[in-house]
Parts: sequence; structure tokens; C-alpha cells
Amino acid sequence: MLSIDGLDVFYGESHILRGVHMHVPAGKVVCLMGRNGVGKTTLLKAIAGALPARRGSVTYDDEDITKAPSHVRARAGIAYVPQGREIFPRLTVRENLLVGLEARTDRVKDVPESVLALFPALRSMLTRRGGDLSGGQQQQLAIGRALVSEPRLLLLDEPTEGIQPSIIQEIEQVIRRVRDAGETAVLLVEQYLDFARALGDLYYIMDRGSIVAEGETRNLTDEVVRTHLTV
Ligand SMILES: Nc1ncnc2c1ncn2[C@@H]1O[C@H](COP(=O)(O)OP(=O)(O)O)[C@@H](O)[C@H]1O
Ligand SMILES: [Mg+2]
Repeated sequence: MLSIDGLDVFYGESHILRGVHMHVPAGKVVCLMGRNGVGKTTLLKAIAGALPARRGSVTYDDEDITKAPSHVRARAGIAYVPQGREIFPRLTVRENLLVGLEARTDRVKDVPESVLALFPALRSMLTRRGGDLSGGQQQQLAIGRALVSEPRLLLLDEPTEGIQPSIIQEIEQVIRRVRDAGETAVLLVEQYLDFARALGDLYYIMDRGSIVAEGETRNLTDEVVRTHLTV
């Protein structure tokens, strides 16, 4: 469903991504791991269309989207939950969720029941301001907002960062249910190894802007973890 080949991305003169390749099959969870600063967020931004590719290609559903702007990618079904969540603190929970409708191409005008069913906690808070929610609730809101468009590829950047363990379990369940529904692929950037292992079908490890290891998550050995992930 998503294929990346030979991707180079720069911030100004800084060469950040170097020849990155990746394949995300339909309906699978792919974990992208790596230490801080290696380029994981940069790759998600490049997939979402927020950063241009200098070289290489991004293919989605057999279409070359390397040069497509972000709103075109969103309408094609790519939803992006940024690191740090970026919900609107002064809008209500419902209003935050409705923002996700903009990526839809049909005429649906309200938050789909399927999204509220995934997040019972949000349903009871629809009139609260986003900024009044806990960090874990804001993360759920950010994921919910992305799911409102019923995407086929969900990009999640460190959803467990700074979140308490009980909420991490809820987020794990949500991602599992999205995966099990079978129609949405998930590309998950994650530093929390147990979480990645519990959820991921496939993994990629990045170091200094390149992919240095990849495979099925069940074959991710402690040695690979020691070599590439331990600080
Ligand atoms: N807006 C920016 N301008 C210039 N350099 C940046 C910017 N954002 C990130 N970088 C640099 O790009 C590299 C990769 O960053 P990032 O993709 O955020 O890493 P990760 O998500 O793996 O922690 C880092 O060296 C970082 O300093
Ligand atoms: Mg990051």
C-alpha cells in the first residue's frame, strides 16, 4: 500500500534522510524505531507531505505521490498524528474531532459512531475543551481526530510519549482494534520497545537517517535491539 524508495530529505542544507526505503502492507502495523534525532519524525512528515523529497519516491496504492501536497494525501486516506499531539486546546473535544472531517471526500458531517465507540472516554467529554484533558486523553483525541476521516494509512508519531501506563494500554487496544478491523495500515513510530513488540507485524530501525535493520517483529532479537536502540 505504501512504498518508499531511495528517499532523501533535507532541512535546508542539512541532509537528514538518506536513501530510505520502506514498505507498509495493507492492514499491517509497521513499527519505525530508532534513537532520538535519527530522522523518524522527518520520515513521517515526508510521508504526510509536510516536507519535500529531494530524491527518491513515495508510492501509495500504486500511485506516485512524491510530489503531491499534504491535503491531496490526506484525501487519499493518509492520516497523520504528530508527535506532541497538536490538538486545539480552546476547541471542544467534538470540535477537535470535526476538524478530522475535512480530510473526507464524502458528505459525512458528524463524527462517525465507530470513532466514538473506540474511545468511550471521549464520548463523555465531547463538550469539554481539548486543553482541559489529561495528556493521555489528548493523545486519544489526536488519534480519534485522525480516525474520523476513516484513513487507510494511519501515521502515529510516538503515541506513548509522556503517557501513564494505564492509558498506554488503552491506546494499545485502540491500535489493535484499528489493525484487526483490517482496512487500515498503521505506521507507528515508537521508542517504547514492549509496545512496538506487542503491536507490530513488521519493524524498521533507523540510524542517522538510514534504515539499518528490518524484519518481522517476532524475529526482532535482543542483539539487534542492543546494537541499534540502546542508548
Ligand atoms: N525543523 C528542523 N530544522 C532543521 N533540522 C531539524 C528540524 N527538525 C529536525 N531536525 C533535525 O533532523 C534530525 C532528525 O530529527 P527527527 O526527524 O525529529 O528525529 P527523531 O524523530 O528520530 O527523533 C535531527 O538531527 C534534528 O536535529
Ligand atoms: Mg521524533
